[in-house]
Amino acid sequence: MEPIIAPSILASDFSRLAEEVQAIEGAADWAHVDVMDNHFVPNLTIGLPVVQSLRKATSIPFDVHLMITDPQRWAPAYAEAGAYNVTFHAEACEDPVALAKTLRAAGSKAGLAIDRDTPVEPYLELLPYLDTILIMTIKAGFGGQAFMPEMLDKVRDVRRRAQINDLEIRIEVDGGIAADTIEQAAEAGADAFVAGTAVYGAADPAEAIRNLRALAAARMGGA
Ligand code: DX5
Ligand code: ZN
Repeated sequence: MEPIIAPSILASDFSRLAEEVQAIEGAADWAHVDVMDNHFVPNLTIGLPVVQSLRKATSIPFDVHLMITDPQRWAPAYAEAGAYNVTFHAEACEDPVALAKTLRAAGSKAGLAIDRDTPVEPYLELLPYLDTILIMTIKAGFGGQAFMPEMLDKVRDVRRRAQINDLEIRIEVDGGIAADTIEQAAEAGADAFVAGTAVYGAADPAEAIRNLRALAAARMGGA
């Protein structure tokens, strides 16, 4: 399986969002869009109107990461707005399987995110209903935090279960992914990598993406 590289536009210049997304077109697989509501997390970022406008400005698939309360109410509109994948948080959702089904019916892939303080074991049974599972390698809420290698045990648990049950699921990591951390995440079994600061903080974002991809692919291939 080829790695997915998903730069987080949270680290980009919000006054030039369309150009910032266009700068990774062709090099990245997905654009990761962090939606924060100042409730589920303290930070406040962008929401549906921005995603709708941005959708018209680029062809790159959107990987929408909803760090919001009440995703049952708000998530389907992101699928309807043309998001490729919509990920909601386990901590905010009472019935993840029902929401995953709703999202798929609305035309997107369905993802479940597991925050730093949440164990993954109770959610392993849900993997057949999901297209992606996002393991936070920081506490959700802000970009630029330090990668937490101890979170990779969750990645290993998911990878093991996916292999045993022969599941087609993307295992995504988010938080502090950079050239010095992506290899260990790939070795643990991740195959989709969100990177904000490491891409948009680089002098050449496309080059940073190519470097991350090569590092991840080498470790995934060796697994
Ligand atoms: C934080 C967001 C991340 C963030 C990653 O809650 O979910 O996607 O943008 O930023 P870096 O790569 O800088 O840690
Ligand atoms: Zn994110």
